[in-house]
Amino acid sequence: MNFKRHTVTAALPYANGPVHIGHLAGCYIPADIYVRYLRSKGEDVKFICGSDEHGVPITIKAKKEGITPQQVVDKYHKMMGDSFREFGISFDIYSRTSNKIHHETAQEFFKTLYDKKVFTEEVTEQYFDEKANQFLADRYITGTCPKCANENAYGDQCEKCGSTLSPTDLINPKSTLSGEKPVLRKTKNWFLPLDKMQPQIEKYIESHKDWKVNVYGQCKSWLDQKLQPRAMTRDLDWGVKVPLKDAEGKVLYVWFDAPIGYISATKELLSPTPTLPIGEGEKKQQVPPNGRDLGGAAWELYWKSKDTRLVHFIGKDNIVFHCIIFPAMLMAHGDYILADNVPANEFLNLEGEKISTSRNWAVWLHEYLQEFPGKQDVLRYVLTSNAPETKDNDFTWKDFQQKNNSELVAILGNFVNRTMVLTQKYFANTVPPADEFTRGDLLILEEITKYPQKVAASVDAFKFREALAEMINLARTGNKYLAENEPWKLTDKKRIGCILNICLQISANLAVVAEPFLPNTSVNLSAILNIGKLNWRDAGRTDILKTGHPLGIAKLLFEKIEDDIIEKQIQKLKSSPPPLSPSGGGHGGGNSPMATIDDFKKLDIRVGKIIEALDFPEAKKPAYKLKIDFGKEIGIKNSSAQITKNYTKEQLKGKLVLAVVNFPPRKVGPFLSEVLTLGVPGDNNETILVEPGKDVEVGGKLS
Ligand code: 2FM
Ligand code: ZN
Repeated sequence: MNFKRHTVTAALPYANGPVHIGHLAGCYIPADIYVRYLRSKGEDVKFICGSDEHGVPITIKAKKEGITPQQVVDKYHKMMGDSFREFGISFDIYSRTSNKIHHETAQEFFKTLYDKKVFTEEVTEQYFDEKANQFLADRYITGTCPKCANENAYGDQCEKCGSTLSPTDLINPKSTLSGEKPVLRKTKNWFLPLDKMQPQIEKYIESHKDWKVNVYGQCKSWLDQKLQPRAMTRDLDWGVKVPLKDAEGKVLYVWFDAPIGYISATKELLSPTPTLPIGEGEKKQQVPPNGRDLGGAAWELYWKSKDTRLVHFIGKDNIVFHCIIFPAMLMAHGDYILADNVPANEFLNLEGEKISTSRNWAVWLHEYLQEFPGKQDVLRYVLTSNAPETKDNDFTWKDFQQKNNSELVAILGNFVNRTMVLTQKYFANTVPPADEFTRGDLLILEEITKYPQKVAASVDAFKFREALAEMINLARTGNKYLAENEPWKLTDKKRIGCILNICLQISANLAVVAEPFLPNTSVNLSAILNIGKLNWRDAGRTDILKTGHPLGIAKLLFEKIEDDIIEKQIQKLKSSPPPLSPSGGGHGGGNSPMATIDDFKKLDIRVGKIIEALDFPEAKKPAYKLKIDFGKEIGIKNSSAQITKNYTKEQLKGKLVLAVVNFPPRKVGPFLSEVLTLGVPGDNNETILVEPGKDVEVGGKLS
């Protein structure tokens, strides 16, 4: 099939925590590579993403932080959008599902299915918390696991034995909202009859045997187990209201509304008038960068036209929703195209362990951007070369260093630098002529022409690791050619010129084929070569740079990363949780499990009085050593605190603070930090202390 345009989506991340490397490797980097490649080929493509702002994870986060769900999504929507932008993920739009246009689109979609009598209505019994006066989502119920007797199993899963549960399976169920025993109450919901739709869905999946093995396999296994009707509405108050009269207090199932988010974001991107958020959200709307002139229905081309190719990039936990449930919704609606491919990745681990938001076992994108300024492409490179395309994979800081030093610096950077230095030396920084080729030259010229096709074939097959390896092989080929021809040992200027001309043509080719993977490097390399932006059709040409073309200023594309930088990152990971939320996201965010009152009771949080603040020159980040008096029972304790930007030592003396006094002491360099002083992240990424009022007693315990 020859497609005229492409709609490429990347999973809408839940707005309940910052972006980490698992997200990037799972879907955002591969999607961005694919889209940049399509754009370079001159294809018509829209790259769609945004924040998924509904669902129970958001409300749980809000409860945990003691703020409203709207405040949670406002905070993380901005944070995620900013870090994606700074990292260079080139979405055409990063929207959000709390926008008015999204609520309207999702409701209209639901109403169409309702009017077409697609849904079945079912009355079921659900747990209800009489004290909190609300139905309970599965995650709001805990109890004893019937399989392993774990007393803290959730209504949908026991995290100890891994069993999938339903709330009624739990022994002694308890509402996490009030601690009360919930009661079963009847409630009506609207179900998508996936059971009846199984033949259509099967036909769709069977027509896509070309999908990645992990994706096709998971779909087959769902189908083999026979699909069951699934409720598309929920008894919750956070989400898109069900647009029916008899649906008071109900919202659309988050997995009904979220994928429709792709459609509403496309509408927003291509709509002639900016849309408004619902509620108190974002004040300033993103102005659609393009499409305004196409009129209101331009978005439909990207969702309803048979010659549009729809591709969803996701992580493996989203496969069933994108390959079965969303297509079933689109089929039932009738007006829409279905995904032509759903390239899902497996998971990325970190230093051999599962990435965990609640344990702060993650590399957070916003922190990486701060700690490695200008090194976006290094992370893109490492996460692509190690992408979990066919199986779960591991990110380690040592591997990050090794790939930077031995591949980016030693192969790509070194090749370009040697070429530039030699051209400067022999030809005053202008492209020398090449007119007498040796057999070896002709072979390499032929080889150059083949690389773009190799890279393209791998990208077309969603094999981004392979594609990246081909790209770096082009630089390797260049290095080998230089080493074999040793122009620095020659005296024949014509011959030297010919060799360098070929190396410069390879460099220009690299500027094109590297762009999807390493966009900043491509820009830097183009500046070094003094050329504008090239397109994929230029790749493979061996005359991109004309004789006499003046080159730009040589500059290193990559720099070596030393051991101490890597060691610091490893230590940072291992010191989890950090002493005082060091850079805004230290205590994570995201899918932290609900804490029980018993969890809380385990913490001994006391009021202390700072009796002395001293400089801490040995600390890796600016910090003070605090001596804090916690009264008779606890005594005087030491704490390290990264608060130098917010307080002088004098200001700290005499201040009342709150601190956890029963965590194990931590070594911070030569200093033993015995208590965790509590604070909130300030705008400058250092902590602002939480100060209790003056009439509380030193040593008083928080309860
Ligand atoms: O797994 C997640 O993070 C979901 N928020 C993905 C949603 S993708 C789409 F359907 F919106
Ligand atoms: Zn269990």
